[in-house]
Amino acid sequence: MVNITVLIMSLNLAGPYQQNRIMKYLFTAFIALSIYTVLVDLVFVKTLSSVYPDKIRSRYSFPLGSFWHYLCSVFFVTTFFIAWFLVKDANSPVNYLIFMWLLFAYLIVYIPKLFYLLFYWAGFLIQFLMGKMFKKKRVSKVNDGRYPRISRKKFLSQLGIVVASAPFVSLMFGAFKGRFAFDVKRTRIPFRNLPKSFSGLKIVQISDMHLGSLNSNHDQIERVVEMINAEKPDIICFTGDLVNNFHEETIGWDSVMNRMKAPMGKFSILGNHDYGDYSKWRSKEEKIANFEGILDAHDRFGFKLLKNESVVLSKNGEKIAIAGVENWGHPPFPQYGDLEKAGKGIEDIPFRILLSHDPDHWDAEVRHKNMYSLTLAGHTHGMQLGLRYKNYQWSPAKYKFRRWAGLYHEGKQYLYVNRGLGYLGMPVRVGMPPEITVIELFSV
Ligand SMILES: [Fe+2]
Repeated sequence: MVNITVLIMSLNLAGPYQQNRIMKYLFTAFIALSIYTVLVDLVFVKTLSSVYPDKIRSRYSFPLGSFWHYLCSVFFVTTFFIAWFLVKDANSPVNYLIFMWLLFAYLIVYIPKLFYLLFYWAGFLIQFLMGKMFKKKRVSKVNDGRYPRISRKKFLSQLGIVVASAPFVSLMFGAFKGRFAFDVKRTRIPFRNLPKSFSGLKIVQISDMHLGSLNSNHDQIERVVEMINAEKPDIICFTGDLVNNFHEETIGWDSVMNRMKAPMGKFSILGNHDYGDYSKWRSKEEKIANFEGILDAHDRFGFKLLKNESVVLSKNGEKIAIAGVENWGHPPFPQYGDLEKAGKGIEDIPFRILLSHDPDHWDAEVRHKNMYSLTLAGHTHGMQLGLRYKNYQWSPAKYKFRRWAGLYHEGKQYLYVNRGLGYLGMPVRVGMPPEITVIELFSV
């Protein structure tokens, strides 16, 4: 589903040939989604009428009657069709919010339905196969009245309801609790080339705020600011995607963002969402004005935005450098990042940190140059879905990104991928909470 959103959004970046291809993908995705939705409801209605014939007096019986389920299919297929046009030509943050909550409403209805059906029919299949494997004469058992009788269908249906409640509860929890369950992740990294004066340097990294998705939840980010300040960081790094697409999303956040404090500086970069590339603009000038509004927000929030440039920090006569590249992404997304330019003038600084939004950039360009001891990235959001237990973590993000969350290293070079603070596509985080990273560097 998130991929469909990305496809829709990438329409505006592609040339005419690619646009045709993307339109074809989009149309196929829309048809597939519609068929899936109608099919799920057809099978669901058939299953319910076979399990609960006594409770369905007419097609309008609420909530098991077929009318309500087909109404649901028609509603979602129609609204997705409308939303497709809305997002394609989206020219305000409101469209994104509508699409986000529509997606949530869809998932909260259709994922539990799918789980119920899969479990119910799998139960029947298992019983059928067991019956074939162990052919026994049927023995009719007399119920002595001590236990209530329950048909096989009703038994499987009730188990199906229990199984279906798991994604329902997870999604509800992810939307109303999980997306604001901020998690502080601490890491200590040793470096031989870190100047002694910087040993113990504390960096707080945050990423992917997507302010438009956060909407008016200022109190939640005020909590984040308190958590960050309590860490007493020397440096704060923000690794891109301040907004979903529009500069208006940054309005009203100044006082919250300015309360974030770090004595050695707050540094930021741009992510793929910070260029206004995800909607159609009436003119080039309008798009430029939007981009300038986003750049201005970094300044208003007290962040030094690094656009293919670097800063040098000094302490007791020793130096380290922080470089930041603009977004570097896989095609069809443009590659604004210029590593050469960002690294100019810091070749002689013994210890260099790089901020780059997309972690794939590390393998594609960064680590072969052997120039940056530590790279900080974001972008993946851990797909806002996953499992974590002690040192084990899993997410669908691992099939899209080679390095998708946490600390990685190759030789003496380290990459940290932050799971992001905000959310995009669906207003949910399940098992993949928003992250505040605290990295302490020490010299050995
Ligand atoms: Fe992002």
